[in-house]
Amino acid sequence: MKHLISPLDLSVEELDHILCLGQDIMKNPEKYSHVCEGKKLATLFYEPSTRTRLSFEAAMLNLGGKVLGFSSADSSSAAKGESVADTIRVISSYADICAMRHPKEGAPTVAAMHSEIPVINAGDGGHNHPTQTLTDLITIKTLMGRLDNMTVGMCGDLKFGRTVHSLINAMVRYPNVRFILISPTELMIPDYLRKEVLDANNIEYIETNDLEKFMPELDILYMTRVQKERFFNEEDYIRLKDSFILDAAKMEYAKKDMYVLHPLPRVNEIATEVDNDPRAVYFKQAKFGVYVRMALIMNLLGLD
Ligand code: NCD
Repeated sequence: MKHLISPLDLSVEELDHILCLGQDIMKNPEKYSHVCEGKKLATLFYEPSTRTRLSFEAAMLNLGGKVLGFSSADSSSAAKGESVADTIRVISSYADICAMRHPKEGAPTVAAMHSEIPVINAGDGGHNHPTQTLTDLITIKTLMGRLDNMTVGMCGDLKFGRTVHSLINAMVRYPNVRFILISPTELMIPDYLRKEVLDANNIEYIETNDLEKFMPELDILYMTRVQKERFFNEEDYIRLKDSFILDAAKMEYAKKDMYVLHPLPRVNEIATEVDNDPRAVYFKQAKFGVYVRMALIMNLLGLD
């Protein structure tokens, strides 16, 4: 039985297969509308979500399957003190596959250890978010036709942003990908990523707080919000939250064929005037997330 807890649980070949399947689903959705008939997906969300949970549910419904689940810890037995291990033991007999989001790093790993069905990590604390990474990769691959030979700028909260951590982990495996890591000093990437992922793989990267300076070099600009819920005090959040705001004036510095991605939700970090720029693809990206989750569900259930 396969789980998806970290982006590295998929080899580059498996990843490529899922992305290609996602692209085929995008072109011929009707071909796949019955493949999960009789199957159920449980969404176990202990933390707020809009896109991830609903795109998982839409994905399973599009495949002809059914969905069940909860969308907050308060409305589950976690509020009564039930452990993740006990919950997943029970859910294993109610559903065929599950997606779990949890504020604690490692909770989906614990779930996978006690589960009889595939567990998908839909975000664990500030750690990983592998299905957002699948969404980001299918977006880049579909729009640019490649995942190698590019300069990727990542801007905002690189310390707590789990989507950033997972995307770096996944992209270092493609040749000649270079990173420009743009953040305030307090929100730079965690040390383990710098040492164990970037340095260990001899990846070229620059850490800076100057977005405008590096804008002309970027092929992708991955914007992120400052992760309010992971701060220990509100003053720091307020001081840092508007460190970078992408607006039409800054977009003037960018290449004509650069793309702006954002996992969403957006707060202030992208001015709404940028939405009409053809290089702003974050809403398209959210749409692609459904196709790639359809491909992932099929893969983990052995239906591809
Ligand atoms: C992200 C997350 O939950 O980490 N959202 C998402 O799943 N698209 C990004 C965020 O919350 O900032």
